[in-house]
Amino acid sequence: KTLHKVTIVGSGNWGTTVGKLMAESTAEHPDVFEKDVQMWVYEETVEVDGQPQKLTDVINTKHENVKYLPEIKLPDNLIANPSLVDAVKNSTILVFNLPHEFIGNICKQIKGHILPYARGISCIKGVTVTDDKIELLSEYIGENLSIYCGALSGANIASEIANEMWCETTIAYNTPPCDKHTANGNGVSNGANGYVVDEHRDSRGQIIKTPLTPVPSEYPALGHDVLRKLFERPYFTVSMVSDVAGVSLGGALKNIVALACGFVEGHGWNMTAKTAVMRRGMQEIIQFARDFYPETVQEKTLWEESAGWGDMIVSCTSARNWRYSKMAVERGVSIQEIERTELNGQKLQGISTSREVSSFLRARGVEDKYPLFKLVDGILDQNVNLEDIPRLFRKSQ
Ligand code: NAD
Ligand code: 13P
Repeated sequence: KTLHKVTIVGSGNWGTTVGKLMAESTAEHPDVFEKDVQMWVYEETVEVDGQPQKLTDVINTKHENVKYLPEIKLPDNLIANPSLVDAVKNSTILVFNLPHEFIGNICKQIKGHILPYARGISCIKGVTVTDDKIELLSEYIGENLSIYCGALSGANIASEIANEMWCETTIAYNTPPCDKHTANGNGVSNGANGYVVDEHRDSRGQIIKTPLTPVPSEYPALGHDVLRKLFERPYFTVSMVSDVAGVSLGGALKNIVALACGFVEGHGWNMTAKTAVMRRGMQEIIQFARDFYPETVQEKTLWEESAGWGDMIVSCTSARNWRYSKMAVERGVSIQEIERTELNGQKLQGISTSREVSSFLRARGVEDKYPLFKLVDGILDQNVNLEDIPRLFRKSQ
């Protein structure tokens, strides 16, 4: 068998953590994966022992990402690479893990430089909105690179997982029919090369017209088993599902709710107020799924998976979007200013997601159906008084 080559695109707090756990797995499964995992690093200069150094050099010599994941020893087979095109070359598995605002530029740079049969997993929490169109990141990546892309999302705090403290996650991967290596499966017909002609569907249930290039049969079949081997660790339990839209939406939209929880707590209210916000937030996520992804999202995913309620709870009680929105209210400054001054280059995905989702809802004239999402957008604009929150809740009933 030919081995799968794995690349992680992104090396922030979560990117480096996922790079670490995958490099541990590839070393443990030499029959499935090449040992070395390439990690694309957005190159920058960092100061180490009083000397300016390139972050990639530091990662490859000290085996530590001193800027985004300090004090965590990384495996020697996690190779930092400042060249995006070189990092993705010949990889069959591309794991995308960077703040969602950068993905457009990344796709432009790597298009045409990847294997036509590469497969993707997006660990990114966010959505892309252009005019009044909204897209899941997994779908945006898939469309732009002409590959299939699934999603990984869950109640996952990078620093805890990097320290090998146990938690669980959800991976959504709907193995494309052409990769099942079975002729005449699922009512689809034989292609000229003996593979099944692809009839893969997008996140809204429509058949994708452009056929995918099948993963050649000399590779271990790329489906749930191989992905579990790549991502599961003794400290990281994986639940595999096929609902990519549900997993992606849960991960993206909960960041808006986490901001709201931080604002509420910063204002001086406590757990019971936050619980009201979480409850209302999940209601709006489910509403969003029903309104815009009725054919594909399984509400069960949001109720039962780590990528649903699990992520909501951890994000509203201990993640960055909650922590720093609380700090912004306590200090009486904008959350954008806190992101600039306190996060050392890390990003709060809730800010842009709130902006994007609100503009999408406004373009469709349905923003009043989502009072909590609208409220967070208003707070970011500094035109909503936090004292108004209970009243807005009453109006929304
Ligand atoms: P981060 O917040 O640490 O972001 C900083 C990263 O952005 C760095 O790697 C930096 O080099 C990179 N960057 C800066 N400018 C760039 C540019 N112009 N082009 C490309 N990259 C640039 O990132 P993260 O925590 O790894 O988050 C990645 C994704 O993972 C996000 O969508 C986040 O929601 C999600 N996530 C994070 C966590 C967590 O605990 N950190 C957990 C689960 C999911
Ligand atoms: P933050 O980006 O707010 O830290 O969220 C991390 C996360 O997604 C927790 O599951």
